Amino acid sequence: MSYASTVEAYERLKNNEKAEDVIIDAICKVEDNKDLHSVGFGGLPNKEGVVQLDAGYMDGNSGCFGAVGCAENVKNPIKLAKSLADENRHFNNFIVGKGAYKYAIENGFETRDNLTKEAYEKYLEKKDSDIKLKSYDGHDTVCFVCKDENGLISACSTSGLFMKEDGRLGDTPIVGCGYYADSKIGAASATGVGEEISRGMISYETVRLMSEGYSAMDACKKALAKLNAKMDRKLLSISVIALDANGNYGVATNCDFAFSYASENCEPKAYFVNSKNEIRELSENDIID
Ligand code: GLY
Repeated sequence: MSYASTVEAYERLKNNEKAEDVIIDAICKVEDNKDLHSVGFGGLPNKEGVVQLDAGYMDGNSGCFGAVGCAENVKNPIKLAKSLADENRHFNNFIVGKGAYKYAIENGFETRDNLTKEAYEKYLEKKDSDIKLKSYDGHDTVCFVCKDENGLISACSTSGLFMKEDGRLGDTPIVGCGYYADSKIGAASATGVGEEISRGMISYETVRLMSEGYSAMDACKKALAKLNAKMDRKLLSISVIALDANGNYGVATNCDFAFSYASENCEPKAYFVNSKNEIRELSENDIID
């Protein structure tokens, strides 16, 4: 889901545009894609048939973060999250439910009914079936970590678990869980089952490990391994991506996962990684955008 956005972001960063603008447009592109059923427009609804969106944003220079949770009928939740971070607030950085909608209206953000016909049909199908929902059904947060000459940003957006409880929040809007950035060290963002990610505060833990000297790659692997080790059952699906302060990337996953990466020395590429952390580059034919 992120490759087309990565290509665009790469071109714009090469033209000296700011990471803070590029990362928002990258995520909006995914939020606006009705064919992606786990983020924004077209996202799958909760068990009451309502699409509730979560997003988080952190500026690694200031440490400011903003987030919205269970936001209904807003067009781009990530824009609200960034706006809340930009205001450099000392409080009210994380707004949920009706408050998120009010914030959108009061601050001139666009609204939209995010429930598409296709998503609603999937909901009806699931609601009327007795097939038990698997943890990863219809589930995939869009995560970006982005660096420019000023520093690092981490941001993510999701419609959350398909058929979740009304009002359920996963990791995505929670700082340190779905996203974390410190420009002097690194930035990370996570996708997968939010409740599992939050148990290990995976994004914060990955950045913290980088501060101990681990590379972005080793920090991702260690953060995931640490969480795995403390579980008394099999850890549900989790993937984490990271960048260090020099723009080197890391990734770790316990399920099949695709991601994309670009830097000033590396044209945009899409990759597949499996739970053994074997990474292979994807070809143009593998990528659907
Ligand atoms: N990682 C997204 C969620 O659990 O809602």
